[in-house]
Amino acid sequence: MPVKNRFAELLPEITAWRRDFHAHPELLFDVHRTAARVAELCRAFGCDEVVEGVGRTGVVAVIRGRSDRSGRAIGLRADMDALPIVEQTGRDYASKSPGRMHACGHDGHTAMLLGAAKYLAETRNFDGRVVLLFQPAEEGGGGGREMVEAGALERWNVSEVYGMHNQPGLPVGHFAIRPGPLMAAADQFEIRVTGKGGHAAKPHETVDPMVISAQIILGLQTIASRIVDPLKQVVVSVCTITSDSPAHNVIPQVVVMKGTVRSFDKAVRALAEEKVKAIVSGIAGTFGASGEVIWHPGYPATVNAAENTGFALEVARGIAGEAAVIDDIAPQMGAEDFSYMLEARPGAYIFVGNGETASVHHPAYDFDDDAIPFGASWFAGMVEARLPAG
Ligand code: NI
Repeated sequence: MPVKNRFAELLPEITAWRRDFHAHPELLFDVHRTAARVAELCRAFGCDEVVEGVGRTGVVAVIRGRSDRSGRAIGLRADMDALPIVEQTGRDYASKSPGRMHACGHDGHTAMLLGAAKYLAETRNFDGRVVLLFQPAEEGGGGGREMVEAGALERWNVSEVYGMHNQPGLPVGHFAIRPGPLMAAADQFEIRVTGKGGHAAKPHETVDPMVISAQIILGLQTIASRIVDPLKQVVVSVCTITSDSPAHNVIPQVVVMKGTVRSFDKAVRALAEEKVKAIVSGIAGTFGASGEVIWHPGYPATVNAAENTGFALEVARGIAGEAAVIDDIAPQMGAEDFSYMLEARPGAYIFVGNGETASVHHPAYDFDDDAIPFGASWFAGMVEARLPAG
């Protein structure tokens, strides 16, 4: 099964949808224009059910196959939100909203899934149902979790889910995936060290939270180097440090540090949280200060199920050819909130090549419309492979 011919015919139309989304980027849950357009198109394609407002501003569209002997449904997900970035591509379809940009290619993901929807509604060459999940707020808002919590998977009896992201650096027409963890869990922490301020020339009369914080930053590095199994991955980064000192000669009372922990394994994730808290309170206590940690759990790790990854690979190879599909790409320390859907149901998340563009989240990033037939073919191909018509 190479790229479906229908997608070559539909390419100008899908590209026009994509560029319209690109010119009108919306942030987090405020994807009202995008969601309305997605719903309008799905209705025009003849989808059997289109429901708006799932998980706040998500859209769910259902397409029934030619038969329903299996009673099964599979979910295909795309994200709709953009980023608070000033676009520098200079394209004629560049953002018309200053300070907002589709710099992660979610406009492309949404357009590719719409293309697959149009094809699937035309052909219906499958058994059971396809449930299209257009989610808001991937970029930090947890829109995927909102859709799961809103019951999007239960309500339509979805038994497996698939998602896709474009990948700069991977040639257009190529795919990459791996079974198991693909994207990291991303937690945030805020550390507050409270000592006793005073004159910088009389340090012995103070409990200096600056020096204690320096020890804490170094102590936290032992989580990766001495606490977690070196064959498992973890990143602990302290990224900001501020104090309440107004001047070069005042030892502060309080220092606040913020950072992130990235991990793949649930046990490693829990261990890192426990050790961050222990190191902060232990080091602060040793020097007579108090140390407090506020933990903000972020997206869980994105974990591909082995069997579903096998199907995803087979479909990708059918489209792109054996040589253009990587089956063991290295996991990435970035995070992705499709992880909530993959925690709820087995499935897989695949990368589709975007060629030699700037990286995602960069002001010069540019989605390559030539990737559309590959991505759309994969979405449609997964349905025909997993729900074969009798
Ligand atoms: Ni993204």
